[in-house]
Amino acid sequence: MKKALKIVAYIVGGVVVLVLIGLLYLTTAFPKVSPPQELTINATPEMLEHGKYLANHVAGCIDCHSTRDWTKFAGPVVPGSEGKGGDKFDEETAGMPGTLYAQNITYDRSHERRESTLSDDAVPCVQ
Ligand code: HEC
Repeated sequence: MKKALKIVAYIVGGVVVLVLIGLLYLTTAFPKVSPPQELTINATPEMLEHGKYLANHVAGCIDCHSTRDWTKFAGPVVPGSEGKGGDKFDEETAGMPGTLYAQNITYDRSHERRESTLSDDAVPCVQ
């Protein structure tokens, strides 16, 4: 009986050690993300116009990353709030647990990402 318990203890201990090794591997080896590339993009007016088209009409970035006027039909984007963020996603609005806000994705003139609201000198990154 004692021997059987010892064997079970060794098996359980072995499984625990294997699980710990697996967790250590997963937490140290992932995510496998390479460092960001240094990119310099010389935007032409055509490129900016194409980006605006993509953000507004194809990918819908501006739909979520702007203030919407939900008192009106289909909640149009409030002019001047493009890219500023603010659309709320929760149980009531999106049927999901928790609360998420689409963030401000504008850049200021020094190209630092703004954390909260659109300031006077902020330029939406899609313009
Ligand atoms: C369906 C709504 C929706 C659309 C469409 C959308 N986003 Fe978002 N986005 C979100 C939400 C919500 C978050 C916040 C997620 C979080 O807090 O984890 C977010 C986060 C981000 C962030 C991270 C901001 C930060 O401060 O970390 C960036 C950048 C971003 N979106 C860019 C874009 C771009 C570019 C597009 C279009 C290609 C886009 N999003 C389309 C809803 C959207």
